[in-house]
Amino acid sequence: MSTNNIPHVAPERLPELLKAIPKAELHMHIEGSLEPELIFALAQRNGVSIPYASVEELRKAYAFTNLQTFLDIYYAGASVLLQEQDFYDMAWAYLERAATDNVVHTEMFFDPQTHTARGVPVKTVIDGLHRACVDAKDQLGVSAALILCFLRHLSEEEAFAVLEESLPYRDKFIGVGLDSSEVGHPPEKFARVFARCRELGLHLVAHAGEEGPPAYVWSALDVLKVERIDHGVQSSKDPALMARLAKDRVPLTVCPLSNLKLCVFPDLKQHNIRTLLDAGLVATINSDDPAYFGGYMNENWLQTFAATGLDARHAWQLAANSFEGSFIDASTRKVYMDRLDQAFAQFA
Ligand code: HPA
Ligand code: ZN
Repeated sequence: MSTNNIPHVAPERLPELLKAIPKAELHMHIEGSLEPELIFALAQRNGVSIPYASVEELRKAYAFTNLQTFLDIYYAGASVLLQEQDFYDMAWAYLERAATDNVVHTEMFFDPQTHTARGVPVKTVIDGLHRACVDAKDQLGVSAALILCFLRHLSEEEAFAVLEESLPYRDKFIGVGLDSSEVGHPPEKFARVFARCRELGLHLVAHAGEEGPPAYVWSALDVLKVERIDHGVQSSKDPALMARLAKDRVPLTVCPLSNLKLCVFPDLKQHNIRTLLDAGLVATINSDDPAYFGGYMNENWLQTFAATGLDARHAWQLAANSFEGSFIDASTRKVYMDRLDQAFAQFA
């Protein structure tokens, strides 16, 4: 199947189709899946105090004006994570939720420096998250992998230190990424550590062009040599960059509800996902930090389609892009693409 021969789907059945199609999630931060209820439960279990009186009060604080106002609360929420079981419970809750959205494969970011700064060993973090990934395959039929992110507001030296501490567990993560405060921390700040990760055979991705300029997307590609761009929505300001992303089929992991909640776009109707797809880019839809931005995977798909008028052909393309952009092997990709076409056939 391709976008030229997908069966006609009646518009009123589109939401049902969007929920049913198998898809890969390529941009979500596992610490951003921590729901207020779990934050309170873990705070109590670990004797950690948090500066909010109730779940409701915490949820009320989720009113953001930009990336930094979100990050301040996101790092505070992560402070309840101490034991291996905490990391397991957080990841398991997300993986169960993802399975109900027909996410069949997920590549989850984690931020070890957020935890090592509080004295939690990297081993504790990775062991808990990885155990949930193993159980997800066995019990949910969801394949899940981990991508270690460096915090870009910290130094490259600190990134090297956490990489060193993580290498004994190299078999439990597939790649590295770059997240946290973007503006003022361009990709080239991490040129040496990414070069080292490349030598180690790790997959490379980076957040770029969320709030930062197209120049950051260029340097993620040309200096860091990343395989995917996380967000990348500012690329549409630079026609030469759009041409490059299309020509090299560089996936963009777009997160519409995140962009809305962090005021990257004033309104979902004005989101540029359709422009990106129509320009032939390998754009995908993802949830970023679903507990904070008001929606898991299917909620991102449903709200984006409703607001921007995307149709069934776009749905097929977005799901196909998610498998093309993922770090799965060719035979697994073929299995998922066949499942995608079967899901569409049922809606013909
Ligand atoms: N951008 C940058 N850093 C992050 C994000 C994001 O959307 N979510 C969690 N860390
Ligand atoms: Zn992100």
